[in-house]
Amino acid sequence: MLRLALLTCFATAHAYLWPSPMLDELESLLFEITPGTTGIASFIQPCDTFTFAPTGSRGSSGRSNAADWIRTAYHDMATHNIVDGTGGMDASIRFAEEQARAENVGDGFVNTLGVLAGSATRYVSVADALALGTVIAVEFCGGPQIPFRGGRVDATEPNLPGVPKPEQTLDSHVASFARQGFTQDEMIGLVACGHTFGGVQHAPFPDIVPELNDTNNSESVSHFDTTNTHFDNNIATEYISGTTQNPLVVGFNDTTNSDERIFGSDGNVTMLSFANSPELFASRCSELFARMLDTVPSGVQLSDVITPLPVKPFDLTFTLDGDVLQFSGRVRFWNLTDNPNRVALLLWDDHLGGVHNSTLLSSLEAVGSFPDGVSTSYIFGGDDFGGLSLDAAAGITTMRFMVDGKVEDQGGVGFAVQDAVVFSTTSCFFSNNRTAQYNVAVRVLCRLYMSQY
Ligand code: HEM
Ligand SMILES: *[C@@H]1O[C@H](CO)[C@@H](O)[C@H](O)[C@H]1NC(C)=O
Ligand SMILES: *[C@@H]1O[C@H](CO)[C@@H](O)[C@H](O)[C@H]1NC(C)=O
Ligand SMILES: *[C@@H]1O[C@H](CO)[C@@H](O)[C@H](O)[C@H]1NC(C)=O
Ligand SMILES: *[C@@H]1O[C@H](CO)[C@@H](O)[C@H](O)[C@H]1NC(C)=O
Ligand SMILES: *[C@@H]1O[C@H](CO)[C@@H](O)[C@H](O)[C@H]1NC(C)=O
Ligand SMILES: *[C@@H]1O[C@H](CO)[C@@H](O)[C@H](O)[C@H]1NC(C)=O
Ligand SMILES: *[C@@H]1O[C@H](CO)[C@@H](O)[C@H](O)[C@H]1NC(C)=O
Repeated sequence: MLRLALLTCFATAHAYLWPSPMLDELESLLFEITPGTTGIASFIQPCDTFTFAPTGSRGSSGRSNAADWIRTAYHDMATHNIVDGTGGMDASIRFAEEQARAENVGDGFVNTLGVLAGSATRYVSVADALALGTVIAVEFCGGPQIPFRGGRVDATEPNLPGVPKPEQTLDSHVASFARQGFTQDEMIGLVACGHTFGGVQHAPFPDIVPELNDTNNSESVSHFDTTNTHFDNNIATEYISGTTQNPLVVGFNDTTNSDERIFGSDGNVTMLSFANSPELFASRCSELFARMLDTVPSGVQLSDVITPLPVKPFDLTFTLDGDVLQFSGRVRFWNLTDNPNRVALLLWDDHLGGVHNSTLLSSLEAVGSFPDGVSTSYIFGGDDFGGLSLDAAAGITTMRFMVDGKVEDQGGVGFAVQDAVVFSTTSCFFSNNRTAQYNVAVRVLCRLYMSQY
């Protein structure tokens, strides 16, 4: 019975349908962000935030979390081999063996993982968290939106080396990007897009950058452009106008001036177009960053681009209390238009063919304003915060919502819930001897049977 229901669900599911544990989490991480306050963005705003500065969290170190996150994603991806399908965005950069390589010099990778791996869960991979870091750093520091797909799989061992180093020749860089799956044009673009953030530090690159002896730049970072914590096309305008201080363009040692060789490799055509049009630069970077993040080992299947789910139930819980099934939860609507006289209903089908409804009270409405839209949330059961009291035998199979007369049921699929296995209120935890008793009810042919563990 359960298996049949799932098959039906997948057969009609093309786009992202609730519930999907991974996409539900990624969608929240992507869109439920109050700039500077909640979510991953709180670690990069203001955009000169550097969590690991010895002298405090921002400004005076010359470094930024945002720049570290973008470089980390690139170095994770750059091991990709388009011919044999190995390497790519798979969080192999988290292995000490990769971090110990000369091509991955510096502490930016450890720093980045220290923050972003905290967003990984049993459903969200570290690789997805690293990709999200780049999307959020770029978007929240002045850059374009980057279409985000989920489903990266974490590598279980290091990849082969292959991240480009500044002292390599132009030919070897062209070959390296080709191996990663990028043309020469795309190489110029991707390097310019990445190097609109951050710079080269003295400690890992003492031969490129001297100690700067600047209290406002305690880590001695020679920045790629004058707006190193902000996405803009100054990387290109300063290069084209000849005013650039980019240490990989005007460094005293020509051998390590890789940006100079790369930027000039098409006679400056690409960089000139970027310098002439901030819009072109932004749209090209959105496209190239997305390509970078979606470069994954062969066999890894990424989801469709994640957009805000229009109707998203969350925090659902069931508890069996005698013959009563307590059902609580909430639902979030995205970009609902204002309506002071709103009528919102939760409707549900039970296992016995019954159809029920309950009002979602607008007096308990919670509104959140996010950069990509507005969320409006309601609590099931309205005034009764304990939720809804259902007949345990009848239970619940599928929910729908009705807002101002409009039915929201994911195109007829509904919002499937499972009350096949639920905890009983007789479960308990004894703090004195740290033991617990879990009483679990299992639904068999529409009856809930109790067992004790
Ligand atoms: C031939 C290709 C490339 C070379 C040789 C190169 C070289 C470098 C070097 C030497 C640094 C200094 C790192 C440090 O001091 O910690 C750096 C920083 C950086 N790179 Fe690249 N890079 C290349 C391509 C890219 C690409 C494609 C991206 C991203 C799309 C990127 C993003 C960054 C960022 C954001 C930083 C700043 C890191 C920070 O300030 O913490 N790089 N790059
Ligand atoms: C900073 O100080 C060090 C040590 O005194 C010196 O070697 C270096 O040249 C100075 N850097 C600059 C940019 O003046
Ligand atoms: C350091 O930054 C402060 C605040 O922006 C500024 O007032 C000061 O002049 C700067 N010092 C140097 C040495 O650049
Ligand atoms: C320039 O850089 C290369 C590669 O790092 C190094 O071998 C060479 O010694 C450097 N030259 C000078 C003059 O520092
Ligand atoms: C590209 O532009 C820079 C800055 O104007 C200039 O120094 C450089 O010679 C140009 N490179 C080519 C290949 O035209
Ligand atoms: C909600 O339930 C009530 C009572 O059973 C019923 O009269 C009403 O038609 C239901 N509303 C909807 C929209 O199904
Ligand atoms: C939600 O509204 C915002 C403007 O507030 C708009 O930019 C965005 O495209 C809308 N999103 C969806 C999914 O409709
Ligand atoms: C733990 O303590 C509770 C309450 O005092 C008691 O009922 C239970 O038997 C104890 N469990 C064990 C394993 O000792």
